[in-house]
This record gives sequence, C-alpha cells and structure tokens, in this order.
Amino acid sequence: MSFEGLIHDDRDNGVFRVDRATMTSPEILAAERANLFDRYWLYLGHEGEIERPGDFRRKSRNGRPLIFLRNTDGELDLFYDTCPHRGATICREEAGNAKRFTCFYHAWSFNTHGKLIALPDEDGYGPGFDRDERSLRRPPQLDSYRGFYFVSFNPDVESLREYLGGATEFIDLVVDQAEEGMTVVKGSNRYATKANWKLLIENSIDGYHGLPVHQTYFAYVKSLGGGISTANLVGRGPQQLGNGHAVLEGEAPYGRPIARWDNLFGPDAKEEIEAIRRRLVNTFGEERASRMADNFRNMVIFPNFILNDITAITARYIEPVTPDLLNTDAWALAPKEERGARLARRIDSYLTFIGPGGFATPDDVEALESCQKGFAAHPGVEWSDISRGMTRQPTVLDELQIRAWWRAWQAAMSGQPLPCPVALPETPQLAGGSQPARIGAVHDVNE
Ligand code: FES
Ligand SMILES: [Fe+2]
Repeated sequence: MSFEGLIHDDRDNGVFRVDRATMTSPEILAAERANLFDRYWLYLGHEGEIERPGDFRRKSRNGRPLIFLRNTDGELDLFYDTCPHRGATICREEAGNAKRFTCFYHAWSFNTHGKLIALPDEDGYGPGFDRDERSLRRPPQLDSYRGFYFVSFNPDVESLREYLGGATEFIDLVVDQAEEGMTVVKGSNRYATKANWKLLIENSIDGYHGLPVHQTYFAYVKSLGGGISTANLVGRGPQQLGNGHAVLEGEAPYGRPIARWDNLFGPDAKEEIEAIRRRLVNTFGEERASRMADNFRNMVIFPNFILNDITAITARYIEPVTPDLLNTDAWALAPKEERGARLARRIDSYLTFIGPGGFATPDDVEALESCQKGFAAHPGVEWSDISRGMTRQPTVLDELQIRAWWRAWQAAMSGQPLPCPVALPETPQLAGGSQPARIGAVHDVNE
C-alpha cells in the first residue's frame, strides 16, 4: 500500500492537512505496527514501578507480552512473557514480587535472570536438552534515560540517547524538579477510548482545545479563588525536537504543585511551596527554576509516548487496539521526597484535571470519540486541518508540534529517515528574520 498523498503539506501557502483514512484504515494500522512500533523505541515504564529486588510488572508492547522486572541483584531487566517449553505466559499477575516464576502449565521454573532453574522429571530429556537455550528470551533492545525505560524490537535501532535527541532537555526539566529523584505514584490509570490512537497523540500536545473543551475546569478553579491571571499565552510555544518528538511549552495559567503557589493549594501550602522554589533557584538559577516552576510542558516522544508536566506530571503510553479503539496507560510522577500533605496536594492536582474522573480526561475522551464518529463521513469529507500557525511565529495555541509529529509519521511510513530539526523556519514567510526573537537558545531548533 502506498502512503503517498495522505498528508498535504504546503509550506508556501501555510496549509497542512491529513487524510482521515489514516484514522480508520486497518491496512494503515498494520503498517504502523511494522513501520513505527516495531522500528523505533517504545516507552516501557519507569524504574519507580519496580523498586525492590524481585519486583515485576506485566507489560505488553505492540501486542507482545513482556515481564519488566528488577532481578534479585537489583538490576532492571525485560523478558518476553512466553514459556520456552510450549508457549504459555508465565507471569499470571499484573505485578508483584518474586524470586522465581513457575509456569503453571508443566511447572518449569525460571529465576529473575530468566534462567531455567528447575523442571519436573528432567531425566525425560536427552543429551541435547540445553537448559540455557530454554531460558527466557529478551527483546533486542532495552535502555533508559533518567529512570524512563524504553524497549525496541529492532536490533539495529539507533541508541536511545541519539534517538531522544532534543527531548532529553525536556525530560531533564521534569526530572530535575526532584531533589531525591523522580518516581511514580503507586498505581496507574488504564482506560480505553473509541478513537484512533493518533487522535490522543494530537490531543495530548494540543493547546488550541484547552479553553473551549476544559472551560469547566477553569471555571471551577476560578470559583475557588484560584487561577494565575498573569499567565502569558504567547510565551514560549511549540518546538520540534527531532525524530518526530515535539513539545509545547508555555507559562501555566494554573498553580503547579512543584513550586508555583496558587490560592487553590490553600494558605498553609504557601510557605512550603515558596521554599521549594527557593531551592530550585539556588540550584538551577532564576531562569531555569522559573521554567521548571511556572511553565507547563506537553511533549510527545515519537511514536506514542507522552510526558505532560501541567497541573501535575503524567506519563502516558498510548497503543492502538483497532483503528477506532485505543488503550492508554497513565502514571502520575512525583519527586521521591514528596510525602504527606505535599504528595496529597500533587495527587489532588493530578486527579482533578487529568485523572480519569477529572475535569480534563472525560472531556478529551468525548472530543476524540466525537472526531472518530465524524470520520465516518469519509469519503465525502476527506481532510483534517492542522495548519494553525504555519505562517507566523507559532504560539502555544498553534500546531507546529502536531505537524512535526505527522511529518515523522509520514517519513516512517514511507521508509524514510525521521526528520531532524533544522535551523530554518517552517515557511518562507518566516525566513526573513523579521519575526520576534524566541526566548532562549532552545528555540534555535525550528523548522
Ligand atoms: S508451557 Fe510452560 S512448562 Fe510447559
Ligand atoms: Fe485536553
């Protein structure tokens, strides 16, 4: 199948459109599994999910069953969750702590290094039976960056560090907020949405829908005397970070549990939050501390991992089930040193907006499912529009970050290398240098 013509990218005239067949076609989903999910790095999980030796967690990536664990020596490891004997999955629980895994079918046992250590009636096998060869198998690539673990099913994939490119700066801005390191809050949110998985990628980095869709949240915050009235919506804006990764960064119009006090957190929290802010300023200087405390960041790591640092921090892994059904796994991240009232404040801020019963997530789900229903008018109405901000210096309400992701999608689907960021504006109109200067060196990376 040819993937030409699915994206209309006219930089001279500032028009970017995506054919809605990309959201409904089973052939395109099959090609995405091969060309995206099996070719690049997929987010697997955070080291905080498996803290103690023997901790394990069942995972699935691109349909493959996996066991993510910390072995008895304290090292993180990953195995395919399939018995080398006859295929049964050997991990029968979502998560737990174990020194060994015993397959329930014929009772072969494996230690946390994946080695076959015991089996009933081994005398029944001949001299060619090799225990090592019948141990658990690992996917070709596992690597991490600052506690975030990624897997790749492509043995020849580039190194994770190279692949992440400019995204590491934004991971650092999140992780550096913690004094003792970042971890995940226990538990996760797992939910299904009747929509194509790419709709949630777009939505997770889209600033344009914030006010219309989430007005109930902003009205709620205001009714409690909260909300930051000085937030600057034309602050930083979107950036592409290479390889399809992209971010939307701007000053948050709400309090941030790390170090931006808001009425909503109550007067008792003020002194504590201001002390955290002073520590950030002392450690990182005024400018970087302000970015960490005052700015929100919505980032996609291509193809399907979201790191949103907004009313709280959420890591979100998105996978398709069918062209019109997606699954999301979401975790709240928190500095390890946060406990008691401080952690409660963060969790409350997380749940109120991005939790599954919060003000944002159900509204976003409704928006996505509504789009998917609308796609049934194709053919007839073929195109979705993502042109916003193509002919101006893009703001937090524009869509450069979504286009950057789609351009990488198109390259990947056509077997081309993923686009690198280049120091050129997106459209010829912006090439003259007369546009307002962007804030900070990070904005040198533009289209
Ligand atoms: S399938 Fe696992 S022991 Fe037989
Ligand atoms: Fe939203």
